[in-house]
Amino acid sequence: MPDTIVRIDPWNPDRELIARAAVTLSEGGLVAFPTETVYGLGGNGLDPEAARRIYRAKGRPSENPLILHVASPAEADSLADITPNAEKLIEHFWPGPLTIVLHSKAIVPLTVRGGLETVAIRMPAHPVALALIEKAGFPIAAPSANRSGRPSPTDAKSVFEDLGGSVDLILDGGATRYGVESTVIDVTGNDVVLLRPGGMSVEDLISVVGSVSSPDGEHVLKRSPGTRFRHYAPGIPLLTWREGEEIRFAGDEHGKKRRVISYMGMRRFPEETLRSIYFEDPENYARGLFSAMRELERSGAEVIIAEWPEVEGVGRAIQDRLRRASGGH
Ligand code: TXA
Ligand code: MG
Repeated sequence: MPDTIVRIDPWNPDRELIARAAVTLSEGGLVAFPTETVYGLGGNGLDPEAARRIYRAKGRPSENPLILHVASPAEADSLADITPNAEKLIEHFWPGPLTIVLHSKAIVPLTVRGGLETVAIRMPAHPVALALIEKAGFPIAAPSANRSGRPSPTDAKSVFEDLGGSVDLILDGGATRYGVESTVIDVTGNDVVLLRPGGMSVEDLISVVGSVSSPDGEHVLKRSPGTRFRHYAPGIPLLTWREGEEIRFAGDEHGKKRRVISYMGMRRFPEETLRSIYFEDPENYARGLFSAMRELERSGAEVIIAEWPEVEGVGRAIQDRLRRASGGH
C-alpha cells in the first residue's frame, strides 16, 4: 500500500494520527479524510493558498466553490449570517449530510467561495472528520476527493486512484456510510431552495421547514455553480434503464456483435452481461453507486447500464447522479 494511505479507526480515531494530519493542514498541506457521505479533500478553509491547491489537485474550475466543514454549530456562526431557517435545520440535522448555503462573513477567503457572496457550510457526522476539524482549530475546506468530473470516492483506494500524487495524506477509515454527497440547500432567504439532492432526504427537510423549492434549470445554474459541470462520469458511457424497457444498440439491426455491457441496479436485468452488481434496496444502491461505477469501468465492459430508481428519499440523489453521469442518455 502506498505510504500516503494510513489506516485509521473510524469509531475511535488515533489521536497522534489526527494531530499529524492537523499539522499537515496548518502547514498548508492537503489531507483526504472520510466523512459519512464520501471522502473529502481537505485544506485549511481560511487559507486562500490551500484552496488554490485543492482546485489544482482536482483539476476543478476555481469558480466552483468549496464546502467549509465545521466541528460545531457555533463555528458556523463565525463564518456566515445564520438565518432562522438555517438555525432550525442545524438544530435538527447537524451533524449530518446537510450542507447549507448562507451569506458569508469576510473571514472566508473569496477563493474558497469561488468568488460568491455566499458560503456553503456543513458539520459532518463522522468521528474522524470531527476530530480533525477540532484538532486543526479552523474550518476545513473539502470538496469530494475525486478528479473533477469523476465519480466521488467512497473509499481510500478511489481517492488514491484519482489524486495519488497531489495529496499529502489519506486517512483510510473504510467505506463511507451514505455513498452519495450531502444535500445542498440555499437558506439565505425565507424560502429553502434545493441546490443538490443528497444523503439527507427532501422529505426530512420539509418536515422541519414546511416546504423546499426546487428551482428551474436556469435558476440552479445561477445559484449552484457545481451543477454547471459534467459530473460523476465513469470512463465508459453510462446509460439509464427502467424495468420493461427494451435494450437496443446501434449495430443490432445489422447483425453486428453486441457491445459488451455491464449492469448495476436493484432489479434483475434481462440481458447477458459481462458483470452485474445488484443492490438490495435504495440505501444500498446509493452507498455502492460510485464504487460500482469505478468497478464496472475496470471490468472490460464497453458500457454501463444503470437502473433508474423510481423512488423518493435517497432515490432522488441516485437519479441526480445518474442523470449527470449519463449526460442524459
Ligand atoms: O458530502 C459532501 O458534501 C462532500 C463531503 C466531502 O463533505 N463534499 C462535496 O463537495 O460533495 P463538492 O465540492 O464535491 O460539492 C459541493 C457542491 C458543489 O456542487 C458546489 O457548487 C456547491 O456545493 N456549492 C459550494 N459552495 C456553494 C455556494 N456558496 N453556493 C452554491 N453552491 C455551492
Ligand atoms: Mg464533488
